[in-house]
Amino acid sequence: MSVQKPVILTCAQPTGVLTLGNYLGAVKNWATLLDDNTCYFGVVDMHAITVKYTPADLRKNTLSCVAQYIACGLDPERSNIFIQSHIIGHTELAWLLSCITPIGDLQRMTQFKEKAAKLGFKVSEEQTSIANQGARQGSSLNAGLLMYPVLMAADILLYNADSVPVGNDQKQHLELCRDLAQRFNHSYSDTFTIPEPFIPKTGARIMSLQDPQRKMSKSDANQNATLHILDKPDLLRKKIMSSVTDSGNEIVAREDKAGVSNLLQIHTAISGTSTADLEASFIGKGYGDLKKEVADVVIAALEPVQARYNELIQDKSYLESVLKAGATEAQKRAYKTLGKVYRKTGFVERPR
Ligand code: TYM
Repeated sequence: MSVQKPVILTCAQPTGVLTLGNYLGAVKNWATLLDDNTCYFGVVDMHAITVKYTPADLRKNTLSCVAQYIACGLDPERSNIFIQSHIIGHTELAWLLSCITPIGDLQRMTQFKEKAAKLGFKVSEEQTSIANQGARQGSSLNAGLLMYPVLMAADILLYNADSVPVGNDQKQHLELCRDLAQRFNHSYSDTFTIPEPFIPKTGARIMSLQDPQRKMSKSDANQNATLHILDKPDLLRKKIMSSVTDSGNEIVAREDKAGVSNLLQIHTAISGTSTADLEASFIGKGYGDLKKEVADVVIAALEPVQARYNELIQDKSYLESVLKAGATEAQKRAYKTLGKVYRKTGFVERPR
């Protein structure tokens, strides 16, 4: 009898080139899971349209994200790589889950509040109303942004994933997903596996190079704050050398030294050298030395990724073959769950 491997599901949004945060907090670790798990890696294009976007860019970024996944080590022979909109079931399940999701839970989500704030909206402390300052500025808060975590829960539960490897910023969304799975199981009998978040020990929260209190993000207005995995070596070095540290000169990881701590974290996540060993090796050296070494380590780590990406992105037919195979496997599993969910919720089966 064959032993079933645990199922892993995780995704990234194709909103631009992956950042070093995406790489160290997520994709690099996903690549270590291929042999011992059945892996589903999604490119969530439907999540990407919850913010302002250009259709042509979305199309380009989605295919580019697939190539970046593979270049980062997600071997399509040992995993299923798919685009969310190719699979029937994500939005269907999201609708069913939305009917058991309290609106207040969605309004409490940190990421929703941050994105709403960017558009000029403030979710009140009591979480009961959304002040509408944004409309005055000509922007609007779409329902998709609020529903975002429900669609994410559907992504995970549709595959009955045992484990979801993510960076620290997705923890709250994962908790909501687990709540929804439990609520559904309680109302309709056991259906969904309750997924476990899998957050790496180092690299789970790579911070902005310009404001190390905030996480490194694809959409940062200050592009010096973010390292993209496809940035040319010179640009990577320039951004790292101009990163914000502090007025002291001690190279130690400490709460009051967010910039230095972040650089040390980046080093450790790539080189595997412990923080203590790094601190010891930098005694008597300055911030310039630390930055130079971090730049060397980052550039060397990304060089093979960039070389592989440049080959892959030229080969559209290969990328399409990967997506076809990935979608076939993903859809099989998705249909199985969706059928079960439809039966349990009382929907009449379609006559064959
Ligand atoms: P996204 O596209 O923002 O990020 C993809 C992955 O990268 C991690 N990450 C980081 N890790 C460390 N430091 C950072 N600065 C950093 N920034 C991002 C994220 O935690 C994530 O693991 N909502 C998700 C996409 C999603 C998803 C899902 C994830 C949709 N459906 C189902 C898992 C399962 C997101 O926006 O990821």
